Amino acid sequence: MTEPERLNAVLMRDAPAAARCLSELARRAAFPRGIPFQSVEAKNTEYNASIGQLTDGHGRGLPLEAMSNAVPGLDPAISFLYAPQEGHAPLREAWGLRQRKASLGSSAVAALPMVVHGLTQAVSLVADTFADAETDVLIPDPCWENYELLFEFRPRANLIRYPFFKADGSGFDVDGFAAAVSKLRRKAVIVINFPANPTGYTPTVEESRAIVDILVAHKGPAVVLFDDAYQGLVFESGLAPRSLYWDVAERCDPERLFPIKADGATKELFFFGGRIAFLSGHVAGEAEVALLSKLKCIARSTVGVASGPSQALVLAALRAPDLDVQTRARVTLLGTRYRALKAALDVLPKDRARVWPFNSGVFALVGLDPRIDAEALRKRLITDFSVGTISIPSVNALRVAYCSVEASALEELGNRLGRAIGS
Ligand SMILES: Cc1ncc(COP(=O)(O)O)c(C=O)c1O
Repeated sequence: MTEPERLNAVLMRDAPAAARCLSELARRAAFPRGIPFQSVEAKNTEYNASIGQLTDGHGRGLPLEAMSNAVPGLDPAISFLYAPQEGHAPLREAWGLRQRKASLGSSAVAALPMVVHGLTQAVSLVADTFADAETDVLIPDPCWENYELLFEFRPRANLIRYPFFKADGSGFDVDGFAAAVSKLRRKAVIVINFPANPTGYTPTVEESRAIVDILVAHKGPAVVLFDDAYQGLVFESGLAPRSLYWDVAERCDPERLFPIKADGATKELFFFGGRIAFLSGHVAGEAEVALLSKLKCIARSTVGVASGPSQALVLAALRAPDLDVQTRARVTLLGTRYRALKAALDVLPKDRARVWPFNSGVFALVGLDPRIDAEALRKRLITDFSVGTISIPSVNALRVAYCSVEASALEELGNRLGRAIGS
């Protein structure tokens, strides 16, 4: 039996839904016993001549002063030497503890998170591992546009879209979601992203209960990817208090569903340029090792290990005793902008624009009357009104990223939007 076959058998025994959803690529994957593997085994030797990196002969790096002087507070071993493919252990552990805290006491299993190169790579690894031409991928419309590239363009999976909002704009389209899930006939990846891009919406407690019920009742096999990029950026009460990963993982049948969670420092710690995110599935024991071996193989065959200085920075943040105070201050600032935009959008002409509900994340979505073309309006907003937005043609809407506009400027942004839409 080859190593990939052995891993497939372990997954089939201990995480059957994950095993049945593996892509053709992932069924062939196993982390090779090559340089990274052998260098980990040699880590504590007296004369370590395994991996090709310049050290002082005792495991410490010899970075250029031009660089190390610029980051005196960072751990040089993490910043300047290669990380293990799965990421530095202290960072994985620290993020795992943070996830646990945010789970509000969930009893559900989540593997020790693997460090990856931003949430884009987290989703890409899920796509490579579980999506191929034989896979249906369920996404809302609208959703983060890059899901198309990640699931359709590369692995050629079949994208199925369901409407995000109810037609009357009163909230998440639970019935549309239920209908889409009930139509799945073969292996699938179901993408759940709350707070959502581009809608800035998190379901209410009631809506989220319904979503979880629908997922756990699905006969599968399906991987449920929780893209929790905007976790914690919530400005209203009465909304889902934690990632739905925990609710699904607590109740799901592993024969039918495999929940996996992507989250990271990009938005949660406002470290947009850092490219540090995490991937953590509902597996433990031998199956956890087997799945990690496959994920590491696919990561090594694409971008290799995650950036050292970024891992060191995120670890430093996670160890800071006042991290929560600092992040709360940023969330409070975002909340001020959120409320300022809500007020500012009141001036939009109601017969030509409809603001879809938003309560979290960093975006709001302005739906346009069919007489107005979202892409043409976006261009006119730049040239005639000096306002930058993103057009979402599938729902003829504009996405407003209020996170990057000062609260005091949002009233004027609303006025200009109103004038552009009205003219
Ligand atoms: C929903 C969602 N997932 C994933 C990502 C990718 O995040 P990253 O910048 O960490 O790759 C984004 C980025 O905008 C996003 O909105």
